[in-house]
Amino acid sequence: MTALDHARAQGEQYRQQLHDLLRIPSISTDPDYAGEVLRAAEWIAADLRRIGAANVEIMPTGGHPVVYGEYRAAGANALTVLVYGHYDVQPASMEDGWDSEPFEPVERDGKIYARGSSDDKGQMFIHLKAFESLLANGGCPVNLKFVLEGEEEIGSANLQRFIQQHADKLTADVCVISDTGMRDIKQPAIIYALRGLTYMQLDVQGPARDLHSGGYGGMVHNPALALAQIIAKLHNADNSIAVPSFYDDVLALSDLEREQLAIQDIPLEKLRAETGVSADWGESAFTRRERISARPTMEINGLLSGWTGAGAKTVLPAKAMAKISCRLVANQDPQKIYELVRDYIASITPPSITAELTLINGGDPAIVDLSGAPMQAAVRAYERGWGVAPIFAREGGSIPVVADFKRILGIDSILMGFGLNTDGAHGPNEHFVIEMFHKGIDTAISFYEELGKQGA
Ligand code: BES
Ligand code: MN
Ligand code: MN
Repeated sequence: MTALDHARAQGEQYRQQLHDLLRIPSISTDPDYAGEVLRAAEWIAADLRRIGAANVEIMPTGGHPVVYGEYRAAGANALTVLVYGHYDVQPASMEDGWDSEPFEPVERDGKIYARGSSDDKGQMFIHLKAFESLLANGGCPVNLKFVLEGEEEIGSANLQRFIQQHADKLTADVCVISDTGMRDIKQPAIIYALRGLTYMQLDVQGPARDLHSGGYGGMVHNPALALAQIIAKLHNADNSIAVPSFYDDVLALSDLEREQLAIQDIPLEKLRAETGVSADWGESAFTRRERISARPTMEINGLLSGWTGAGAKTVLPAKAMAKISCRLVANQDPQKIYELVRDYIASITPPSITAELTLINGGDPAIVDLSGAPMQAAVRAYERGWGVAPIFAREGGSIPVVADFKRILGIDSILMGFGLNTDGAHGPNEHFVIEMFHKGIDTAISFYEELGKQGA
């Protein structure tokens, strides 16, 4: 028997195990669920121990813990791979429009429906099961270090410090992460660029308390209006960002990369069908693919002010609030971007209100080197697992740790994602295509076997 045969034979059982993990609501953002996040960590640690990983521990951080486990039996002449994934999930409840309970996994139409099935428990679990299949059939040809975190969905704020503190323990030749997507089920993709993030909150304060809009409207600046006026000045008429110096550090695309990205552009019809919008938006000097992956953005993620209940209330609200975030590209710095936005907003804030911008979290953008030998192993693994070569693609989302691994440990990450854009990550009815789960395990096994042919 080979590891691949073993994985197929155990497939049903592996999925049942994944269901058990998916039942744990490990929502990292909500302090009420801290116990569930820990329970998920314990569940994974127990599975790693049962599979046969060594030195499995739940390592504390400043927040939710990291699950660590390793395999060194491949020996000093073999490569060492850091396997990163996250076991925390976004919040989910039936009211958001789920057709079944988000933490009660069900399989229908060839998909597993549950929060975290695609992002990222299902994808992370692929590597545990590839490891298990290899161990059951003669051993794993590379050394592994699992670093599975519980705070990715809230910005991995404590992970950078954790990596610094444990840099010696975490040394590796390369990192592998399955937490991204493919364009469609037939065409695998290796991601080589991720965007960074600066997430902020803007608080506008007007009068000391809510006022009668008849008695004061016209002589007191309405904070909801003032906020809208500020927000309206964040973009130029061409939809570029109006903050001075915002684009200073943006790495321009080469002509060659623009040519390659042009092939991957998103047809307007596809965007319409996928989202329900009738027209696209953005910087017309760039293709849609470029706008969502190689250009930075400034988004309003939430707005709050005044009366939003049923009927009418003639009120002049005392305050207004907006959540604002920027997706960043290489080589923008999240802290510097925060300071630029803060200073710009201060410069356009009228004396009739106060506006305060606070930084909530941030993460660096990342670009991965495509030329290394491990990347070639990944390409061959996809050819075996999928029967076709992967394309190299940029993603618009963020995985902050990729830049940290590069800066602190000096290693590149291979982003072998098995999700689909249509999986509903962060939204209702999140699901993972069952075929992707099994092909993902096959591909991961092949990846470790291919890496085993390369010496340290
Ligand atoms: N897995 C995603 C990142 C992702 C999404 C990569 C889509 C590629 C395509 C990850 O779990 C995520 O949601 N990241 C957050 C990071 C943020 C909280 C710092 C994101 O991108 O919003
Ligand atoms: Mn994820
Ligand atoms: Mn996510």
